[in-house]
Amino acid sequence: MTSHESSWWRTAVIYQIYPRSFADASGDGVGDLRGITSRLDSLAALGIDAIWLSPFYVSPQKDAGYDVADFTDVDPLFGTLDDFDAMVARAHELGLRVIVDIVPNHSSDQHAWFQSALASPPGSVERARYIFRDGLGPDGSQPPNNWESVFGGPAWTRVTEPDGTPGQWFLHLFDSSQPDFDWSHPEVLEEFDRVLRFWLDRGADGFRVDVAHGLVKADGLPDFSYSDDAHSMGGVEGPSSPYWAQDGVHDIWRRWRSVVNEYADRILAAEAWVVPLSRMAKWVRPDEMHQAFNFAYLETPWEAAALKQVIDESLAEFSAVGAPSTWVLSNHDVVRHSSRLALTIDNPQGHGIGPSTTPLPDTAVGLQRGRAATALMLALPGSAYIYQGEELGLPEAIEIPDEARQDPTFARTAGERYGRDGCRVPLPWNADAPAYGFSPTGDSWLPQPEQWATLARDQQIDDPTSTLSMYRLALALRRENDLATGTMQWIEDVPDGVVAFRIGDVSVYSAVDPGASLALPDGEVLLSSMPITDTIPPDTTVWLRS
Ligand code: NOJ
Repeated sequence: MTSHESSWWRTAVIYQIYPRSFADASGDGVGDLRGITSRLDSLAALGIDAIWLSPFYVSPQKDAGYDVADFTDVDPLFGTLDDFDAMVARAHELGLRVIVDIVPNHSSDQHAWFQSALASPPGSVERARYIFRDGLGPDGSQPPNNWESVFGGPAWTRVTEPDGTPGQWFLHLFDSSQPDFDWSHPEVLEEFDRVLRFWLDRGADGFRVDVAHGLVKADGLPDFSYSDDAHSMGGVEGPSSPYWAQDGVHDIWRRWRSVVNEYADRILAAEAWVVPLSRMAKWVRPDEMHQAFNFAYLETPWEAAALKQVIDESLAEFSAVGAPSTWVLSNHDVVRHSSRLALTIDNPQGHGIGPSTTPLPDTAVGLQRGRAATALMLALPGSAYIYQGEELGLPEAIEIPDEARQDPTFARTAGERYGRDGCRVPLPWNADAPAYGFSPTGDSWLPQPEQWATLARDQQIDDPTSTLSMYRLALALRRENDLATGTMQWIEDVPDGVVAFRIGDVSVYSAVDPGASLALPDGEVLLSSMPITDTIPPDTTVWLRS
């Protein structure tokens, strides 16, 4: 640790803002930075420590902004750099840190570098910043290898050369509008040092690093045998994957850590879909990133034994490298946990759910489990992530018409996978306002479900039994009782299917498995995810002081 470094991030609760869907000040139906600034008070009142914003950079929005055309400017859709500065100033005034997204694996095909690569011949310096290769077969009409895009279809697209002839192919692990950079090229390294310093100089408190397991590809780009369980964000293919979790990525993170260390108290958080946790922990060794999203926890089913195991494993593996564990249940890439935890069918990450999913999750069961799962998560030591809208108990939006769906996954799989639109629908703030207060005009880039009126923030704010009130209480108690720095111990003497632990002088009981319940133990009830009597019923978490 350098002398000017503090450890705020070890215990922080970080709230993810998805800018398109948080609050729209301009009225065009897409959220923006001024909208965010206008609503920051409500986040401070919720009791979080930091916000993380998904991308708001210049982008043609083919992958909702994860296709960046200019890494150091704001897209007019979201506002201006001045709007960014004003948002950071207001957040800091309210005591909230601001983490921004950085997307180093790829750019948009509209990025100036890619446009000049297209205009330049094979073998040129311009093409060397990306991964261009000749195709296979006598006429080069076959892709250079068998890699698949995580959004479905091939990971290669053929270009037309400036003279009009069919030409080379370029690699895109995601959409064809997202060409991968070649990270062995020194200019790519230097450019991203500049991008980091640009946002750090403007007051960003850190970065959430997109696809932090994907930047380096195996020499020779060998073919790969896909397993059936390969899922969208990768990682599960294991150590033999030629493009996930290559050792070379760690040199990049060491370099980035030294850039970030030039500033006080700034952090790097890895989005690295890598299993098992012992492998993911490499991303948070002392000279690499500060945090990594705990996707193993997010993907754990609502089962007592599995939860206990992943919690033990997380604490052991992250602390073995001196990092805090993080906890997360929802984000903009997965089915919201208030629906996911009631799904009875397999639903790989990124596939999403929609009208033809059978059976659909039961809404009441989902909400009850979602609340219980959150109450369990927020008592755990370390840092936690909350995704916008989960504090309202929002379920996944199911009834989005096909023509309104925007995730490239839907089109690239010809509708076979619904994709991620269902967790990205704009937030309901006021039940009676147009677009539930999301935008002044009533416009909304994805349709909001009718049932969301009752979930709007203004309907929940003064109701002590609401999901919003439960989140606020959990966050206040977490802080007052220093749970994030506590040491937890399992309470063993509980019925099967119950997860129970002590942390400081708080005891937490979660009745998880089907039918599991327990008599309410002695002590002052601090929090209960659902109303209780003298029994803690199934799918319920209770915090007690005892
Ligand atoms: C991970 C992001 O979270 C996801 O939304 C995006 O589509 C991919 N990376 C590609 O950037």
